[in-house]
Amino acid sequence: MEDTMRAVEISEPGGPEVLRLCDRPVPVPGAEQIAITVDHAGVNRPDALQRAGSYAPPPGASDLPGLEASGVVAAIGPGVTRWAVGDKVCALLPGGGYAENVVTHQDHALPVPKGLSMAEAAALPETFFTVWSNVFMRAGLKAGQRFLVHGGSSGIGTTAIQLARAMGARVFTTAGSDEKCAACVALGAEQAINYRSEDFVAAMKAVGGADVILDMVGGDYLPRNVKALADDGHLQQIAFLNGPKVELNFAQLMVRRLTISGSTLRPQSDAAKAAIAEELRTRVWPLLDAGRVAPVMDQTFPLAEAAKAHARMESSAHIGKIVLQVR
Ligand SMILES: NC(=O)c1ccc[n+]([C@@H]2O[C@H](COP(=O)([O-])OP(=O)(O)OC[C@H]3O[C@@H](n4cnc5c(N)ncnc54)[C@H](OP(=O)(O)O)[C@@H]3O)[C@@H](O)[C@H]2O)c1
Repeated sequence: MEDTMRAVEISEPGGPEVLRLCDRPVPVPGAEQIAITVDHAGVNRPDALQRAGSYAPPPGASDLPGLEASGVVAAIGPGVTRWAVGDKVCALLPGGGYAENVVTHQDHALPVPKGLSMAEAAALPETFFTVWSNVFMRAGLKAGQRFLVHGGSSGIGTTAIQLARAMGARVFTTAGSDEKCAACVALGAEQAINYRSEDFVAAMKAVGGADVILDMVGGDYLPRNVKALADDGHLQQIAFLNGPKVELNFAQLMVRRLTISGSTLRPQSDAAKAAIAEELRTRVWPLLDAGRVAPVMDQTFPLAEAAKAHARMESSAHIGKIVLQVR
């Protein structure tokens, strides 16, 4: 392997233009880590937050952006038993995906599902780990329950709609245009609510309320989500695009036995991420292998055009996932 690689770094906190090509040393895998020759890297909203200076990498993680990638195992560190050099994988990363080479824990990689391209495989880990752990492991969504996901056309939303549907839930979603709503219905949502013209609280009350809500918007959605929940319902918060501070009547939680919780994936322990990966391997990868669930692909940009990829994501014009072609 070469000693140096091409990567995209955040030159200073700011807009998409601060992303620039650079040369960096090729990372070396440590104990239980694999080194991956990156084929494609996924782009996620948290990358844009990191670039803007509001989402610092956890201690020990690469300062380069990029939380997921597909590629080929190029080297293995001491203690690696799961993978061999030459295996094709897609992997959750603590950072560093916008580069020709990256290292990650062996238990955070999964095989490339049958029939998927390397571009599609790169689009899987971040949203599948996030949706599975929040919606099924934490909020406990069950078959037959009513599930509401906000931002249905986002990377997270398109994944959540498909997984909830595949697990037998009734799926409701919100999105910001009729075109996005149509895409959500095509993915399996029973009803997609254009939040610019329709009140999601009224729409959910009309069907009996949501048993589980996955929300990334926050702000005034918090009290509205509480109203949209059915008794015993669970609101799971994964971001606060509209801000984290609101006034909320907590008596509702007590009287209607509601739960509000949240999580972020990136700072969790290796063991916690490995536990999520194991559930994905047994419960979700068979659905991907069978073509029952697939990533919704928006656009692919060359690594050198990472700034354009971020600008597209922040325009919110996209539907599904944006990826970078690294090789
Ligand atoms: N907690 C975790 O572990 C975790 C992990 C991954 C991602 N996330 C979060 O999940 C969210 C979705 O991530 P993603 O990568 O799927 O992003 P994405 O594809 O860019 O989706 C964001 C979507 O949210 C909608 N939206 C609603 N209100 C918005 C607002 N005020 N500002 C911007 N967009 C707004 C937009 O669609 P409309 O046109 O319909 O408004 C947009 O398409 C992000 O907030 C991200 O930070 C959390």
